[in-house]
Amino acid sequence: MDATMRDLITRNGGFDLCVTEFLRVVDELLPPRVFLRLCPELQQAARTPAGTPVRLQLLGNNPEAMAANAARAVELGSPGVDINFGCPARTVNKSRGGAILLTEPETLYRVVRAVRDAVPGRHPVTAKMRLGFEDRARLVDNTRALLDAGAAEIVVHARTKVDGYKPPAYWDQIGRVAEIASTRGVPVVANGEVWSRADYDRCRAESGVADVMLGRGALALPNLAAVIARGDTPWSWSRTLEAVIELGSMDIEAGRERYMPSRTKQWLKYLERAYPEARDCFERVKRVRTAAEMQEQLCAGRRRSICAA
Ligand SMILES: Cc1cc2nc3c(=O)[nH]c(=O)nc-3n(C[C@H](O)[C@H](O)[C@H](O)COP(=O)(O)O)c2cc1C
Repeated sequence: MDATMRDLITRNGGFDLCVTEFLRVVDELLPPRVFLRLCPELQQAARTPAGTPVRLQLLGNNPEAMAANAARAVELGSPGVDINFGCPARTVNKSRGGAILLTEPETLYRVVRAVRDAVPGRHPVTAKMRLGFEDRARLVDNTRALLDAGAAEIVVHARTKVDGYKPPAYWDQIGRVAEIASTRGVPVVANGEVWSRADYDRCRAESGVADVMLGRGALALPNLAAVIARGDTPWSWSRTLEAVIELGSMDIEAGRERYMPSRTKQWLKYLERAYPEARDCFERVKRVRTAAEMQEQLCAGRRRSICAA
């Protein structure tokens, strides 16, 4: 989810916090423009236009480099720093980043500790992890490593790296982390496979934790956070199609015409989960190459949906 999508999605309410996509840290201090590209909200008090705070996420294994970049993120205005120990991408894991570090609890400790030491105490340093890399054998060690290093909050994506994104998510396992973290007064946030209010309720019941992070569900049903937090009615397809058209206009206005068609198609793929109509829409636009034609097709879809109603 990039800044444009965060802007659109947080307008509906229900979110307490957004976390950026990860910034990959190898061994050097990145220039401010890289932070600003990933998180343009830094120029607006690190909030989306609707006022939702946005925290920057870093990914890397080098404690010194992570610390220097974390300090820069906070200087630039990020309210704390989140550290990614969950990314399953092969290219990332091959260079010892993301979920592969769950096989090295001592590296988790060193990275979080260095970041904690580099960032003023009022700024939370938080971590995101999976249940493990191949299996869950190190879940307790990894939890302890994050806590010993001073993580202020742990988000648990309730699958291993090997599980990928396949359902189910093992929400009960989050409770194992939460039990240990509660002895240090550190909150745990549950993540994985929350697509509806009913999933949210079951996730909280099975994990025993209060807070939930939405992933793909927030794209599949664009007002899911408001459905959960405020009891809003899930958006109709025609309301959602308005949002798709709006996002396209935002991309065009921001000079991202070339990116807009592929991003629209990508979003329609996520929307298929909640809206059968999104599949038909995708079929109609899948060969579209230009932003102008995409907007034309989407608007034609809107006219059809108005006629059908
Ligand atoms: C395409 C894609 C990109 C992602 N990028 C990030 C990322 O940069 N940082 C992160 O913490 N999680 C990232 N995630 C993981 C999600 O935040 C979330 O943990 C995961 O999808 C499980 O939640 P869900 O089942 O509700 O989607 C990504 C997931 C997908 C599918």
